[in-house]
Amino acid sequence: MTDHIQYDDAAKALKLLDQRLLPCREETFECRTTEDIVYALQTMVVRGAPAIGVTAAYGCHLAALEVLAETGGEGDWKKKLETKLEIIADARPTAVNLRWAVVRLKDTWDGMPEASLDDVAAVWLEMARQIQQDDIESCKAIGRFGGALFEDGDSVMTHCNAGALATAGYGTALGVIRGAIEQGKNIHVIANETRPFLQGARLTAYELHKDGIPVTIACDNACALLMKKGMVQRVVVGADRITANGDAVNKIGTYGVAVLARQHGIPFYVAAPLSTIDRDTPTGDDVPIEDRTPREVTHVGDVQICPTDVPVYNFAFDPTPNELITAIITERGVLKAPYSESIQKAFEEAGL
Ligand code: MRU
Repeated sequence: MTDHIQYDDAAKALKLLDQRLLPCREETFECRTTEDIVYALQTMVVRGAPAIGVTAAYGCHLAALEVLAETGGEGDWKKKLETKLEIIADARPTAVNLRWAVVRLKDTWDGMPEASLDDVAAVWLEMARQIQQDDIESCKAIGRFGGALFEDGDSVMTHCNAGALATAGYGTALGVIRGAIEQGKNIHVIANETRPFLQGARLTAYELHKDGIPVTIACDNACALLMKKGMVQRVVVGADRITANGDAVNKIGTYGVAVLARQHGIPFYVAAPLSTIDRDTPTGDDVPIEDRTPREVTHVGDVQICPTDVPVYNFAFDPTPNELITAIITERGVLKAPYSESIQKAFEEAGL
């Protein structure tokens, strides 16, 4: 699946498969302005670290078109555009791919001081397309490296959705599963439901089932029992941000799954592209954790399931300490502890 993020050049619109409605309805949400992009990111029309990076890149192009319509490329257009870029970069705080994409585009703009606004918009559209294409290639490489670690007949647990929907296509954690299957192995996936937004039950189950990959949904709180019963051979998850020491910040509940995997002697893998690694942030405890609306917890759809006015914790992510991670699977290969060294080496080898 690669058609869930599509830029329509004629309409000058980014068309997103609305992930809030899956699996029951497949509808498109159109973004034409910075405001649309920020709304789509914050309400999770589109979500998943690499997918929000790609969306942000197209968002910068749309922001440039918007400023062009407002100013005709005259006067204080640079200031206006900078403000919009900051608004996009700040839409969600945890996944580093969002700011990574905006900074990449901004750096290119900084390198062309004489460029007109038209030129900037055109260059950014090409860069957004390239980021989208590169992400698919990265996911496939992650799949090849990670797939080799799995064995025929494995039941693999995953948490949240780190699949095609969360990337430009193919997926990171689900890319590893797809890679193992392409290598001829039979793999069964256990998709943790992932309260409260249900990315596992709604999205992981949707995309795997659509591709004919065997998947069973489990309540988040069944994880310990399934592991104790020997029903899980491996865990693979994605990440929103991996810090310089190899801690991995991912969907709330991931840390608990990692602790349980360690207790039961089950390998726990994190699959992510280098764009998810933030070498400027020392540890997972230094990463800002998104605190989302209580309504996601108190309601299922429009139905209220909690008493009115009782406070709610709705932290969207948690950091898994690097010592619980068996390996980090990237497009440049499989990184092992000590992660501060293996991460540094992977970046050096990639010329970054
Ligand atoms: O809140 P979400 O749905 O954007 O969170 C997504 C995750 O936690 C994913 O596991 C992560 O972004 C990796 S996606 C390849």
